[in-house]
Amino acid sequence: MQTIVIKAEPERLDADGIRKAAGILRNGGLVAFPTETVYGLGADGTNPRAVLNVFAVKGRPPDNPLLLHISKAEQLDAIAASVPSVARRLVDRFWPGPLAIILQKSESVPREVTAGLDKVGVRMPGHPIALEFLSACGVPVAAPSANISGRLSPTCLEDVIEDLGGKVDCIIDGGNCPVGIESTVIDVTGEQPMVLRPGAVPVEALESVIGPVAVRRSAGSARAVDAESAGSSGGHAPVDRYEHYRPRAPVVLFEGGPDARASALGNEVVRLTSEGKTVGVAALSESIARLKDTVGSRFRAEEMGSASDPSSVAARVFSALRALDRKGVDVILVEGIEESGVGLAVMNRLRQAAGNNIVRCRSDR
Ligand code: TXA
Ligand code: MG
Repeated sequence: MQTIVIKAEPERLDADGIRKAAGILRNGGLVAFPTETVYGLGADGTNPRAVLNVFAVKGRPPDNPLLLHISKAEQLDAIAASVPSVARRLVDRFWPGPLAIILQKSESVPREVTAGLDKVGVRMPGHPIALEFLSACGVPVAAPSANISGRLSPTCLEDVIEDLGGKVDCIIDGGNCPVGIESTVIDVTGEQPMVLRPGAVPVEALESVIGPVAVRRSAGSARAVDAESAGSSGGHAPVDRYEHYRPRAPVVLFEGGPDARASALGNEVVRLTSEGKTVGVAALSESIARLKDTVGSRFRAEEMGSASDPSSVAARVFSALRALDRKGVDVILVEGIEESGVGLAVMNRLRQAAGNNIVRCRSDR
């Protein structure tokens, strides 16, 4: 299959190109499109056959539901059986933006979208190209991240082509995704709202609007709780059953205080390079500078942003790992960051990228 690439610029929306892409989707085709978080792989959410095609092209397990993407909050009323007031408050505060809300689904949502579940996840992205495209589609668009299942989420055209070139009908090129990490997924169907996947909207921001929220244990933070003990129905949701965010090269994650992390990383670079391995390091800019001072430039470096600005790290985390993979390194050493704010989501992704390869460094003090 030939994949058409349509270039769009947020400042100068090419309405013809976007209309063409929307036409392809409405005819049952698959269109990858940029959002502020990551690229999505879109299908007409009212067309079961197109939706099943998304699963086939990604190699996605059939029991992992898709989010529906909309351009107007009013579309929610046709998708959800009911919209509780907690959801309304979240919509008012965070849409358009990187928050996906899980609600009871209405009859109109095909079971192919929700993988047979009676709940549906809905998100209204904040990216101008995404909004323009969704509005031109005129139907809810079912879209997972536009990567092969299990791999890193794509944040630029090159990433999408790498995974899906020749397998999808069209890609809208909107440049780099500014947020760089996926939406926060929150289930509001239980007694207490529960974050199923930490993401670009920090838990602290959610709580400032709706009060205490639970975070599913598998979301991987010190404050996480068991889904069951929080009285939410999100406990057996599908988010964590499969491997995710895996580069080709094995990943080792270094957690702990900044000094301890940097020195353990440096020791590992020396050990692995002396064994003849090509080593990639994805780390904070400060740590890369420090490592170069101590061990020289015997490793391939990708800076992930600054410790003082966790959103800069979120914006770079997937692209840094993909860049090291492209350089063909044998192993990727990656530096963890503090878990507050969007740092929780970054660490959630890094722990999954690393599987069980986590080095917990002794704290600095
Ligand atoms: O930022 C994002 O959310 C991106 C962009 C493209 O919008 N999309 C994305 O989709 O990350 P995906 O499919 O890669 O991740 C959505 C997550 C999955 O872990 C899925 O299991 C969960 O949301 N999810 C979707 N529908 C659900 C439902 N009905 N109940 C529970 N979890 C659901
Ligand atoms: Mg995904």
